[in-house]
Amino acid sequence: MSKLLSYSVEDGIAVLIIDNPPVNALSQPVRHAIQDAFQAAQTDDAVVGLVIACAGRTFSAGADIREFNAPVKGPSLPVLIDEIEASKKPVVVALHGTTLGGGFELAIGCHYRIADEGTRVGLPEVHLGLIPGAGGTQRLPRLIGAEAAIEAITTGRHIPAPEALELGALDEVVGSDVIASAISAARRLSSSNKVKRTCSREVDPESIPDGIFQKSKVALAKRRRGFNAPPAAVDAIEWACSTPSRDGLKRERELSSQLKASVQSKAQRHLFFAERLALKIPDIPKETVIRPVESVGVIGAGTMGAGIAVCLLNADLTVVLVETKQDALDQGIAQIAKSLGRDVDRGRVAPEVRDARLARLSNALDLRGLQTVDLVIEAVFESLPLKKQIFSDLGSICRESTILATNTSTLDINEIAALTNSPQRVVGMHFFSPANIMKLLEVVRCDETEKDVIATTMSLGRRIGKVPVLSGTGYGFIGNRMLEDYVRESQMLLLEGADPAQVDSPLESWGMAMGPCAVMDLAGQDVSFLTRDQNRKFLPADPRYCVPGDVMYAEGRFGQKTRKGFYQYPDGRTRQDDPDAITLMRSAADRIGIEKRASISQQEILDRCLYALINRGAQLLDDGIALRASDIDVVWSAGYGFPAYRGGPMFYADTIGLDMILKAFENFGSQFGNEYDYWTPAPLLVSLAQAGKTFANWDADRIGGV
Ligand code: COA
Repeated sequence: MSKLLSYSVEDGIAVLIIDNPPVNALSQPVRHAIQDAFQAAQTDDAVVGLVIACAGRTFSAGADIREFNAPVKGPSLPVLIDEIEASKKPVVVALHGTTLGGGFELAIGCHYRIADEGTRVGLPEVHLGLIPGAGGTQRLPRLIGAEAAIEAITTGRHIPAPEALELGALDEVVGSDVIASAISAARRLSSSNKVKRTCSREVDPESIPDGIFQKSKVALAKRRRGFNAPPAAVDAIEWACSTPSRDGLKRERELSSQLKASVQSKAQRHLFFAERLALKIPDIPKETVIRPVESVGVIGAGTMGAGIAVCLLNADLTVVLVETKQDALDQGIAQIAKSLGRDVDRGRVAPEVRDARLARLSNALDLRGLQTVDLVIEAVFESLPLKKQIFSDLGSICRESTILATNTSTLDINEIAALTNSPQRVVGMHFFSPANIMKLLEVVRCDETEKDVIATTMSLGRRIGKVPVLSGTGYGFIGNRMLEDYVRESQMLLLEGADPAQVDSPLESWGMAMGPCAVMDLAGQDVSFLTRDQNRKFLPADPRYCVPGDVMYAEGRFGQKTRKGFYQYPDGRTRQDDPDAITLMRSAADRIGIEKRASISQQEILDRCLYALINRGAQLLDDGIALRASDIDVVWSAGYGFPAYRGGPMFYADTIGLDMILKAFENFGSQFGNEYDYWTPAPLLVSLAQAGKTFANWDADRIGGV
């Protein structure tokens, strides 16, 4: 037998244990090994039943995603599961850990499912731009009904075993030794001579709510705008509810193959691996010993500090919140309590868990409260003198091993680090607002940051549920530096006569969560202006630079918070066109001599904004601020509403072709002038385009890409 699977027969029950670390992915050799063992059990007259289980930390996480770019080599997973389901001898599956995708499809193809109580099951294929393609869309509704299957498959959520049992996806949940329970069940089933095949069940038509398929698609068009996989999953489930399983399985396979070949799925698969690759820093060995972090000090109890504290508490860390004034401290604590309470209201967290988390929060009105913490995150407002003072104090207050992190988004962390007694332990932790919701965490490496400090910070980021990406120091790090160019072009378009809605709408239809004008209104025109103003030395000395934003600031139109910005917000949230804003911008354009253009095409709006973004990304790679193009893709998809189904800006550039982007740069340069180098392509973009290469090639050539 293969090393990937152990096979034994215990008193008439064949036990197959898959062993393919780390997550028992069902790669071709594993499928082959299962098929061999399965056939051995079928032909052995002494075997009356089978148990399938997995070794290691989890049952299978599903198909091996790395195989998806090549033609399938048999036995395919759908065929293997069909064979198992057809077995006359009962097949019981013993589940533990995260049983996902093809792993769960295998389970629901077996005749009886037992899980230990910590198991979570799910079909998360939609997150890879796919639908379950090994019978999941046909078998799950037959077990749990159409409505629950739609919910499970279109969200891809991990369902805890007790809930899965209640839904009907599992037959039994046990507290210990799941394999022993599975062997007993197999024996029981073999003697009763009853094998229940999921595919021979039918979904009770009475149980299907009227119009559920259509309604789900309408809801998904909003909630998962632009994603092809979720509505395809609903289609497949509808087949399960209306046709014999043979036809439904065939339809599922057609849909699944189409999706697998699509750019959307390739993009989402790219991001899956990119997120994991971002954790690997080429010069920091995997074996680097990380510093223990159990208690964290958060300085600043404003929106950002409180949000960061919530993330830490949710990960069961101890937090000391520091402010200078009691009022501010009280407000921060109230915000934290409210946020933790919301999870209880939504049924996500038990009240006792919330109480235990709150009990781990303490506070202080003085930095001396941070004497014993393992890590400090400073989240006060952006003032270099203030931050310098804090870091200089922390150097003497905290233990020598304490990591000192700043959440600055614009300031030079090297300058801040220089003021502590040991700059080696200073690092940037750039959270995004609202910090307890936004996934991205930029970890900023300063000139002297020690390797174990980086490794610890990246690992902490993961522990608190963030997607960490390493950035070098430099204005705006990765994300905000690129945002600058993207916003610059959007505002240039406003000066040329496009309305805010005209700029935002093509970008939103293309997939951005929000257009750049709406983003500026949300972030606050005041915040953007003050950041711009304090950092002029990094920005082009162009008199046109972000003039529309400057005008909004001067007029007190700070965006949503004042109900007026590029748009107006009569109810404080919903945007509407605002003729006054348009008039103000037109007058400003007239003053600096920019004529209104007769028309601007949607394609031009898309290309100018997105290519400016991509070019800055290429420059950041050249400058060593970003390590990989795939890291940039993670930053933009996790932190800036870039559509996952486009794979991030650099992946998108590769799909367009770098030579096409270069040509667009030449055209824009001749059409709009290039006094400020806006249309000078980054050297990396030029060299890759000339060599007929992609950013993915660049990643792979240098440090091993996705
Ligand atoms: N195929 C191939 N590789 C996989 C995989 C899969 N289905 N699932 C995980 N891996 C790899 C990861 O890339 C990672 O590799 P690396 O160590 O080289 O970076 C390793 O397994 C561990 O995964 P990771 O995500 O870092 O571990 P985790 O404990 O945080 O999470 C899971 C485990 C199973 C929850 C998570 O990996 C996951 O969601 N996997 C995908 C499940 C899925 O979508 N299945 C459907 C496939 S169609």
